[in-house]
Amino acid sequence: MICTSCGTENPAGTKFCKECGTRLGLNCAACGTALLPDAKFCGECGTPTSATPGPAPARVASASTAPAGGPNPGTPAVAAAPVAERRLVSVLFADLVGFTTLSVDRDPEEARELLTRYFELCRDVIGRYGGIVEKFIGDAVMAVWGAPVAHEDDAERAVRAALELVGAVPTLGPSIQARAGVLTGEAAVTLGATNQGMVAGDLVNTASRLQSVAAPGTVLVGEGTERAASAAIAFEPAGEQALKGKSAPVPAWRALRVVAERGGRRRSETLEAPFVGRDDELRLLKDLFHATSRERRARIVSVVGPAGIGKTRLAWEFLKYVDGLVETVWWHDGRSPAYGDGISFWALGEMVRGRVGLLETDDESTTRARIAEALRIHVPDETERRWIEPALLALLGVESGVRAEQLFGAWRTFFERLAASAPVVLVFEDFHFADSGLLDFVDHLLEWSRSHAIYVVTLSRPELLEKRPDWGAGKRTFNSLYLEPLPEPAMRALLGGLVPGLPEPAIRAIVSRADGIPLYAVETVRMLLAEAQSWSKYILRKERHPNDPGKKGDEA
Ligand SMILES: Nc1ncnc2c1ncn2[C@@H]1O[C@H](COP(=O)(O)OP(=O)(O)O)[C@@H](O)[C@H]1O
Ligand SMILES: [Mg+2]
Repeated sequence: MICTSCGTENPAGTKFCKECGTRLGLNCAACGTALLPDAKFCGECGTPTSATPGPAPARVASASTAPAGGPNPGTPAVAAAPVAERRLVSVLFADLVGFTTLSVDRDPEEARELLTRYFELCRDVIGRYGGIVEKFIGDAVMAVWGAPVAHEDDAERAVRAALELVGAVPTLGPSIQARAGVLTGEAAVTLGATNQGMVAGDLVNTASRLQSVAAPGTVLVGEGTERAASAAIAFEPAGEQALKGKSAPVPAWRALRVVAERGGRRRSETLEAPFVGRDDELRLLKDLFHATSRERRARIVSVVGPAGIGKTRLAWEFLKYVDGLVETVWWHDGRSPAYGDGISFWALGEMVRGRVGLLETDDESTTRARIAEALRIHVPDETERRWIEPALLALLGVESGVRAEQLFGAWRTFFERLAASAPVVLVFEDFHFADSGLLDFVDHLLEWSRSHAIYVVTLSRPELLEKRPDWGAGKRTFNSLYLEPLPEPAMRALLGGLVPGLPEPAIRAIVSRADGIPLYAVETVRMLLAEAQSWSKYILRKERHPNDPGKKGDEA
């Protein structure tokens, strides 16, 4: 028997919870809500408690002992009575900081409108990561991952959602912030619960307490969450938290950022600086992506900026975001090589190879087989397949003699058919190196595939505009994003995140030499660290470093 108050499992037949003393098993026969010991009527639905003879096993027994909706002599028939069972779940609590004080100075209409937009944002963000919103309590939201359906990466998704939510709330208005707590562990889950929450118990209370000690704009998590999500999310210890209602302090971690795809894939092996100073740009990329998907209209975002300014990094942040969503997204990326002459459409070939699971080194028969298989999956029409297949094979260099006029139409149709099942993303890296054929194809795609959910992102240096001064001109779906040098506070945050405790003179020197180009700062730090490491090796071995000029006359 599971206690509806603290979630503890008690032996069958127990009258009071061995953990918290709550009376067990008295639940309304009509709606399943726990009854107060002296209640004559159910506080939820008003049914007289005389209709509830003794403990109601259907509500509180574990699933194995009382199957849902099983015969239950003596109680009025309750269709598919909810059943509580212990499950591993992740619970998220988030609330607005200082909303009550804010709303005092605000017009009530305005405050209500702000809350409505906040609720929408919560539903949107939590839904995107596959969470279920349990309830809103004032300006707090509670959401659950792992019930009714459990996924392997529930904890990670909950933290991604929390970070996204806390990051997005400031867009609701000036000086509005949120904070969040995420806890992973076992809780009593009542499947089929309608009026009251699905998840109950100590875990829920503790998650709510954890949220309330989080600093504005931050996400605190418990041990189980940190362990389950740390492959893809960077955390820092946040100490032992004394939480109301808990006798022992609870160890907590602060979630910093997403550092990989789901489950830790593609996590950077080298030192990666925290992502700074480009929140607006990233948000725009995300918003336009969602608009593309929602409106089923092709769009292009042209990201432009000099070398080392952070174009690739921005796309990487966007990829990690898209990868965390529960919605399927057909992601593609491809790079135009610096000496691209003779290998036109290289980037597009990389995208198609990525889609069908081919390596550059795969032989012709593998290439043919994979393409045929992908077409069977994504292009239902046989005639269309026969027409697209040679064009894709030509792109990958294993077919010749396909008429040039056929190529563009066939390639584009392939992406359109993909877009029929889920939004398509095409990220063109180093687009300033693109051959003119590729530039023409992107133009063609945007023109002809207008009413498909295809999101094109090009990353290029300003040279692109020398090649094609009219790039983007006159297109309705064209958005350009120029990356400016990072301002000094962002550069300092970048350095602080890379090497905490770097001395001020070093920070000042790097910041002033870097001129807002993150690449310079990152490379300087990497160099310094490599040097320090090599020096410390010699110091430990008490040998002389090869670069050490040594004392005069001290020959090795
Ligand atoms: N906004 C940012 N915050 C932190 N580091 C960044 C940022 N932008 C770029 N970097 C880092 O600077 C380096 C160069 O960035 P990159 O994206 O490769 O530049 P680009 O593609 O414009 O040449 C990378 O190590 C990257 O992680
Ligand atoms: Mg780049």
